[in-house]
Amino acid sequence: MNVSIIGGGSWGLALSKVLSDNGHDVLVYDINEKIVQKINDLHLCVQLDEYIPENIKATTNIEEIVNFSDTLLFVVPTKVLRFAINDVKKHLKTKKLFINAAKGIEPETFLRVSEIFNEMIDPKYLKGFVSLSGPSHAEEVIKGMTTVVAASSENEEDGLFVQSLFHNEDYFRVYSSLDLKGAELGGALKNIFALASGLIAGKGLGDNSRAALITRGLVEMEKFYKAYGADARSLMGLTGIGDLVVTCTSVHSRNYQAGFKIGHGKDLEETLNSMTMVVEGIRTCEAAYKYAQQHDLELPIIEAIYNVLFHKMDPNIALKSLLSRKVKSE
Ligand SMILES: NC(=O)c1ccc[n+]([C@@H]2O[C@H](COP(=O)([O-])OP(=O)(O)OC[C@H]3O[C@@H](n4cnc5c(N)ncnc54)[C@H](O)[C@@H]3O)[C@@H](O)[C@H]2O)c1
Repeated sequence: MNVSIIGGGSWGLALSKVLSDNGHDVLVYDINEKIVQKINDLHLCVQLDEYIPENIKATTNIEEIVNFSDTLLFVVPTKVLRFAINDVKKHLKTKKLFINAAKGIEPETFLRVSEIFNEMIDPKYLKGFVSLSGPSHAEEVIKGMTTVVAASSENEEDGLFVQSLFHNEDYFRVYSSLDLKGAELGGALKNIFALASGLIAGKGLGDNSRAALITRGLVEMEKFYKAYGADARSLMGLTGIGDLVVTCTSVHSRNYQAGFKIGHGKDLEETLNSMTMVVEGIRTCEAAYKYAQQHDLELPIIEAIYNVLFHKMDPNIALKSLLSRKVKSE
């Protein structure tokens, strides 16, 4: 079947390869003409410097991408999501199934991605919404390396449809889940702890501190899940602990890389200027910190990372502030 992909960056093209390997026809839309040209002329994913199957085509024509399929997969950074939805919605004439693979929470509204879709898309064009998430770095998926993710939707049928669309017995296993909230929160929040993990590695700390970070990070994520009304059992799944572990331990994670640079003494602006790809954890950290303040949630790690990122707190002082908190029972 036909599938439209909005966003021809590293993750959009890695997923386009999975779909193409599964026998689907894929058209990719990107706002950047150079990226579209490289896909059409060289079959190249610029961000990863990797080739993709020749049958994957790309366009800068938004009307063409909307008309190409009734299944629209969004893979743009959450910062530009509203722009992309706005462009797409102008051309909607029939109901579409929306799939999202981006990971973040909006700092101004605290909305999850599905809530942004619900707010912006007229229900007469919204067939359903599915989140595709889990421990998955584009660098590995595009090479066909074994990866396992989850398709989460409040509508079981939609989740199962997306599961069958992406599932590939050779390298891409897809579970289905009904906990959309948990999947969206897990995918977004883990990026904050990836920044923290990079930061402590940049400071020369070791595996003990990383394991502590992942464990106590899970506790902070659980508080969030409860506050948002998500199923905390999802923390034990691919979109929870699965994604948290991969992003806190892998050099492929941009959030980890950004944290590492900050740990080495670079400030936030310098760090972002040196990175070509999106670092979602920064906006999510802002959202999580503000949400915690408003809802009286005690999230010391998130608060410490927020202070390092937004108030230029010395990471050593941030670490000291965590270690010197009043001792308590686990
Ligand atoms: N890279 C990964 O391994 C990975 C894995 C899982 C999830 N994600 C998530 O996927 C999202 C995208 O990440 P990425 O790594 O592909 O980013 P990227 O920076 O590699 O690519 C983003 C692409 O979006 C395009 N774009 C920007 N604005 C647009 C618009 N208005 N309309 C259409 N295209 C637009 C850019 O030109 C770029 O090609 C992020 O939320 C990220 O957290 C990434």
